[in-house]
Amino acid sequence: MPLSRTNTKQAIGLKPSAWVNYTGREANNLILIKTIMINLPDVETQIYHATDFKSLISTPFHGTINALCWPRELTGDFGEIVNKVALNENIVELDEGGLCALQLSEQGNLARDILLNDLKLLKAHGASPVLNLIRCYERDDAYPFFPTDVYSFHVDRAVVPTDTFLCTYYGEPSEILPNAQAIQKVLVPEIRDGLKKLYGGEPEGFESFLSEYFFDLHYLATPAARPLNLGLGNLWKLAVDHAGSPVPPCVHRAPKEKNGQSRLLLIC
Ligand SMILES: [Fe+2]
Repeated sequence: MPLSRTNTKQAIGLKPSAWVNYTGREANNLILIKTIMINLPDVETQIYHATDFKSLISTPFHGTINALCWPRELTGDFGEIVNKVALNENIVELDEGGLCALQLSEQGNLARDILLNDLKLLKAHGASPVLNLIRCYERDDAYPFFPTDVYSFHVDRAVVPTDTFLCTYYGEPSEILPNAQAIQKVLVPEIRDGLKKLYGGEPEGFESFLSEYFFDLHYLATPAARPLNLGLGNLWKLAVDHAGSPVPPCVHRAPKEKNGQSRLLLIC
């Protein structure tokens, strides 16, 4: 019986990050693998696919791996939950009590159970998950030539070791930019010159200025960059910039909302 690409990888215990294109077949208990090529897209070298929540939280970032994904195909109608919640502001937090109070159909109920369970899993792990219904995020228009809002490719930074977890259940999913296709904006000469004019102080204080106003967290995509859409339902763990991190932080951004469709996002 021919093996699919996925189950052959699992059968031979290869980490997705090391997957190669191949043909495989099972015969007499042997799996024959023929390597065709090893040129992985940049993003593939960064992602480890976890098999379950335990694997997601227990697998450390290492080498080039700075994004872990627990791929899921979720059942239930998350759109029903989105439509049932009054969105009086651009971002509304859904707490467990509010979720439980919603009158939902069977499919809506399935979706709610998944949300409640994800919150429970992450809290038990010691995280502080927040479930947000998002019409749009606030735009940074303080520095039009360099917005530092979440629509810009950026990394998260923390003063203590931590990770970013996120899952989009409804609406446009978040995106990752492979580190190999990202350029720190403050290193682009034209942008750096603009920031120096904006700063206007003594040279020794410039780097502190860049971090104080979060300019150093933001990245440009290279012309041939191919950002990765993180998909719906998948639970992701992304590396954060903190002292002692063994890997580069994962570059990501919030997507532009499409057609006025709100997003349902878990993040912590
Ligand atoms: Fe972020």
